[in-house]
Amino acid sequence: MDYQLDLNWPEFIQRYWQKRPVVLKRGFKNFVDPISPDELAGLAMENEVDSRLVSHDEGKWQVAHGPFQSYDHLGENNWSLLVQAVDHWHAPSAALMRPFRFLPDWRTDDLMISFSVPGGGVGPHFDQYDVFIIQGTGRRRWRVGEKAELKQHCPHPDLLQVEPFDAIIDEEMEPGDILYIPPGFPHEGYSLESAINYSVGFRAPSGRELISGFADHVLSRELGSHRFSDPDVQPRENPAEILPSELEGIRQMMLNVIDQPGQFNQWFGEFISQSRHELDIAPPEPPYQPDEIYDALQQGDELTRLGGLRVVSIGEAVFINGEQLDSPHRAALTALANQLTLGQAQFGDALDDPSFLAQLAALVNSGYWYFGDEE
Ligand code: SIN
Ligand code: CO
Repeated sequence: MDYQLDLNWPEFIQRYWQKRPVVLKRGFKNFVDPISPDELAGLAMENEVDSRLVSHDEGKWQVAHGPFQSYDHLGENNWSLLVQAVDHWHAPSAALMRPFRFLPDWRTDDLMISFSVPGGGVGPHFDQYDVFIIQGTGRRRWRVGEKAELKQHCPHPDLLQVEPFDAIIDEEMEPGDILYIPPGFPHEGYSLESAINYSVGFRAPSGRELISGFADHVLSRELGSHRFSDPDVQPRENPAEILPSELEGIRQMMLNVIDQPGQFNQWFGEFISQSRHELDIAPPEPPYQPDEIYDALQQGDELTRLGGLRVVSIGEAVFINGEQLDSPHRAALTALANQLTLGQAQFGDALDDPSFLAQLAALVNSGYWYFGDEE
């Protein structure tokens, strides 16, 4: 399914992105759900899939984590099943993320899908990330409040909610409507009937994650071996004192480790191209020989990127799932990074180079790209 998003992106970014929540009425016209509630429930029975059931009864909240064996115990009201990273497991659902590629890939995260019965929801809360919540089947009332310092509490150890808030958006969403919420705006969705919601989530690394990720890189590459030195060490009246110039020297030393453009770019490409959720990796058996890949592409077969696989480029460098791919075939690399499906035309001359073909075979044999359409 090819989802067409009716949105003026430059205007949206100027007025709303990271600034204000907004309802995009009928962002998707004639919206068709890419997944059924049964399929979603089936996914939440799989070991590798991250899911939870949130329910409430007279103000008491319960959270259960998947995989689930059965849903027989559930009543007709007040629960919601939430499944993370469905784009990794269900190709038709992954198609819903494509229209959002006006925003850069490195900022996107995953597609979370929820199924709620009447009264179902996770309660009032806020998130750290931008999210586009698409209304699928059913109607759900969404309320969003002004960004404010609201008190948070945990009605259940696995559930973080905020105190009640006044709504600046209060809307009954219908299929195809999209609610955009920037980080920090309190919101709650309350189902009026059985409803499916699709959350296209974004990611924005925190300083903590960056420092910790960079530290891992420094350790694994054995960088930063240079040590502090002080040939002009200054005697001081109080030997316990660390002088401002010494602190500045230490700070500069640390900044210098980061301030190596080549290393820094390499690290960030590797870091940000790693997925935060498990990938549905199924390497082909038996593996492909390079000439089989060549023949298949010549015959018009196309390669599709595995759902959720992250590919980014920095200058001429391309990073795939945490690793850099090097090749002199710039155009082919650019296509690999930017197109989700590729045929012979996108690879061009690169296919005549045995070393490129071997690299491509390795990617296919890792399960990162596969022949055929989205199942
Ligand atoms: C949902 O209930 O579908 C979305 C939960 C959220 O607001 O993050
Ligand atoms: Co939320």
